[in-house]
Amino acid sequence: MVGSRSVLDLLIHHASVPDGRKDVSIAIKDGKIVEVSAKPIEAEANRKIDAAGQLASPPFVDSHFHLDAALSLGQPRFNESGTLLEGIAIWGEHKAIMTVDSIKQRARSLCHWAIARGTLAMRSHVDVCDDRLLGAEALLEIKREFAPFLDIQLVAFPQDGYLRSAGAAGNLRRALDKGVDVVGGIPHIERTMLEGAESIRALCEIACQRGTRVDMHCDENDDPLSRHIETLTFHAQRLGLQGRVTASHLTSMHSMDNYYASKLLPLMAEANIHAVANPLTNIVLQGRHDSYPKRRGLMRVKEMMAQGINVAFGHDCVMDPWYGLGSCDMLEVAQMGLHVSHMTRRGELEKIFAAITENGARAMGLEAYGLAPGKAADMVILQAADLEEAIRLRSNRLFVIRRGKVISQSQPTASQLDLDGKKLTVDFRFRPELQTGF
Ligand code: FE2
Repeated sequence: MVGSRSVLDLLIHHASVPDGRKDVSIAIKDGKIVEVSAKPIEAEANRKIDAAGQLASPPFVDSHFHLDAALSLGQPRFNESGTLLEGIAIWGEHKAIMTVDSIKQRARSLCHWAIARGTLAMRSHVDVCDDRLLGAEALLEIKREFAPFLDIQLVAFPQDGYLRSAGAAGNLRRALDKGVDVVGGIPHIERTMLEGAESIRALCEIACQRGTRVDMHCDENDDPLSRHIETLTFHAQRLGLQGRVTASHLTSMHSMDNYYASKLLPLMAEANIHAVANPLTNIVLQGRHDSYPKRRGLMRVKEMMAQGINVAFGHDCVMDPWYGLGSCDMLEVAQMGLHVSHMTRRGELEKIFAAITENGARAMGLEAYGLAPGKAADMVILQAADLEEAIRLRSNRLFVIRRGKVISQSQPTASQLDLDGKKLTVDFRFRPELQTGF
């Protein structure tokens, strides 16, 4: 509660919040949220923001990204087939020309985009299949540089296979020694299903010994029999890693036999596996070997959520060998995710919004995250009345707040029409009173 004589750092009035409450006041002091109240908070504050009914949300969380590859599109060539495998080949060619400085320069631009879009937490994989560990060196520096503004977690990611790529096992350990946070993996790229399973066992044991989390690229293909998620779930359970293991991509689940999926999902829920879907990239990478129908290649988001599995969304790529588009906008990710998953009902939009906010925070273990007293004063105020509108319009981010300070600000947008002298303002928010003139 706000004391009667305390001077707040920031006081936000008249905000809507994701749980549906309106006209909420949020009091902030010393970088933390002090009070969130449906009653007006009367207190002095160094800065006051009248949200005027707009949505104040905890910041967006990008649970799966590749900062080392971001913005490298076309260097040295473009992906003509559109496949994951050609993307990996181009990335291999790029590694020959990249430097610590070039990675930092691209990653820095990407972090600026993320902040402007209201994303204040990101888990980035960093390729460790390069004996020089340039990516780890560059991104550890970027992590430190951006720490006041953006929570970055790094995953030691053996892109070319933990067992298949010579040196990857040693490099992964060295990257963890240097401060990379999470153990990664990519079992479907190993030479055989058995080696994939062996890589999962070894990597989970490393995480267990070191007390880190695990986040593996898992079954990112259209093979209905690619079942590394089953092995990952088994080792999470066996080693007591429940709640600390994330399975990313899981696109083969789209093609799996329904009976098998009905066995798998409860096992994942039991082992408290977090799952991260990457709708923008996987809707273009998957199905490339199909004629028609072309499979969508997205994990079974709706069914997994119904089973109680924590599903978060990631952007994965922005302008790199795998995905040439994107502008680091988690609301664009949400849009694609809800369309592909058929989650268009109002209650389902709330679940999609959670996938780009609180679910990602849970997967990353961000304990200070949330719009509640005692939590870090990190949030985004959107030009939207509620979360449905935020997703539908991919709304402008008016204020991005980090530890109680405004670190990014945008002007509200509106279009002015002049129809043979009849001038009016078009507002895409659906308000009957705003539609006059049409
Ligand atoms: Fe990825």
